[in-house]
Amino acid sequence: MNSDELTSQLEFFRDIGVESLDVSPAAEAVCDRLDADRAPLQESLEDLDSIRADIGDCQRCKLARTRTNIVFGSGNPNAELVFVGEAPGYDEDQQGLPFVGRAGQLLTKIIESISLKREDVYICNVLKCRPPDNRNPEPDEVASCNPFLKRQLATIRPKIVCCLGTFAAQTVLQTAAPISRLRGKFFDMDGMRVIATFHPAYLLRSPDKKREVWEDMKQIRAELFRLRS
Ligand code: URA
Repeated sequence: MNSDELTSQLEFFRDIGVESLDVSPAAEAVCDRLDADRAPLQESLEDLDSIRADIGDCQRCKLARTRTNIVFGSGNPNAELVFVGEAPGYDEDQQGLPFVGRAGQLLTKIIESISLKREDVYICNVLKCRPPDNRNPEPDEVASCNPFLKRQLATIRPKIVCCLGTFAAQTVLQTAAPISRLRGKFFDMDGMRVIATFHPAYLLRSPDKKREVWEDMKQIRAELFRLRS
């Protein structure tokens, strides 16, 4: 991490009200590649490349007509922690990678706030194509795309899935409950622990909510420790 990145990380900590940093060996341990001593979970019959190949030059829904690139997901294929967002925005559509715009930069800081790197985790979205003008995903688009997210999760088999924002939380948890009721607690789903927090794009508009996201991230860090011991 260079000094600019360090400054921006410390600014993020200040924004979310962190008053001291835990640099004990236990805190550093989570920095280690999280899959290092991971017990193999149920063997998956496919890998991420074959799911991507199956998506192909997808024409399954109307978003194919307006997208530039399919945004499949990126990161550690053996990640213990997966972040699921809503759908690609402009920058993601241009680059074919998830969370690379302003919200993505904030997500990177959020990940680093619990001493992880982006490369340690896996990041993807419910929808793999950008909705025009970033409008909300429509039911037929979710119906076409959600099976691929389910296959990604079944292949990675993370210990924890963190849903970013209302849409991802409602889709992954299959509920209509509002994010205010869903965030900040763990749900068990298919052998994974699922937690929801506010979307980084929402935090850019409502920075006062960063404090809650920090609380959620601390829960994730503690749960990772618990599941590893
Ligand atoms: N917002 C999302 O939900 N996903 C992205 O990849 C970028 C912004």
